[in-house]
Amino acid sequence: MQLKGKNVLITGGTRGIGKCMVQYLITHGVSHIAVIARDKKNLKDLSLEYPEVNFIRIAGDIANIQVLRDAAARIEDKWGHLDILINNAGIVAAGPLEDIQDEDLYDQVAVNLTAVMLLTKYCIPLLKFSEEAYILNISSGLGLIGMPFYAVYGSTKAAIRQFSDSMRRELAPFSVSVTCAFPTATDTEMMQKFKGRKMDAPEYVAERSLEGLFNKEIQVIFGGEERLIENTLNFEAPEELDKKVAQNYEERKTASLDHKAV
Ligand SMILES: NC(=O)c1ccc[n+]([C@@H]2O[C@H](COP(=O)([O-])OP(=O)(O)OC[C@H]3O[C@@H](n4cnc5c(N)ncnc54)[C@H](OP(=O)(O)O)[C@@H]3O)[C@@H](O)[C@H]2O)c1
Repeated sequence: MQLKGKNVLITGGTRGIGKCMVQYLITHGVSHIAVIARDKKNLKDLSLEYPEVNFIRIAGDIANIQVLRDAAARIEDKWGHLDILINNAGIVAAGPLEDIQDEDLYDQVAVNLTAVMLLTKYCIPLLKFSEEAYILNISSGLGLIGMPFYAVYGSTKAAIRQFSDSMRRELAPFSVSVTCAFPTATDTEMMQKFKGRKMDAPEYVAERSLEGLFNKEIQVIFGGEERLIENTLNFEAPEELDKKVAQNYEERKTASLDHKAV
């Protein structure tokens, strides 16, 4: 896959997995990258770090529809078309459902799901102008298996899986391929609370997700053999997985408390 000359839009490309994806793309020859994130300083630092790259810096909250419309409009103005859309930005607020703040529930749906659908909608006309376009959606292992205390986050991520399947089939006649990645625990600010635990490196998750995208893999599932076995168990004998999860219910509950990165 020749990446030189490709135009890329990524949400959340300033930190964590998203920044590692930006670094991978630059290393592989990409020089036109539009990045959406809220923190202006991080956006500016990114462009200072890579002065050779032509960045479109979009400082804003993807929960704001106008930010998404403006992003698509700026790309159309500057580049005329888009080759690669990466829906990466996400937030989490875990815990027992009855304790999750209403605002955090709404925000997770707005950022993790609604924004992904709207931004994709606004970008489709730009992607259709590409000779060969790619969409990468970052879901989560919690989008494959509904775990306690992650009901809201997991539901948004499960919806991303369904959205990816629908869009892949919908866009098939237009040479736009769609890949959905399902990271498990990855060592980023989102997982600050779990520092010290065994986690995937964000560089690895970024590289493997992008390789999957360019190989036109439908899904990139992290977590190794153990995760694949759990996914099968969840599908074929969910009550068996219920028993397994119940064994460390309290531990899971405690771990979920204060797991918030919004
Ligand atoms: N880390 C994990 O263990 C893990 C596991 C499974 C799936 N994932 C998924 O992987 C993706 C990346 O996660 P990460 O761990 O790399 O996260 P992260 O380190 O917290 O970085 C999140 C990025 O998204 C941006 N962002 C967050 N909310 C935004 C908003 N409302 N509007 C615009 N930009 C926003 C952030 O920039 P600003 O704060 O400046 O806006 C930042 O660049 C997420 O979708 C996450 O759900 C992560």
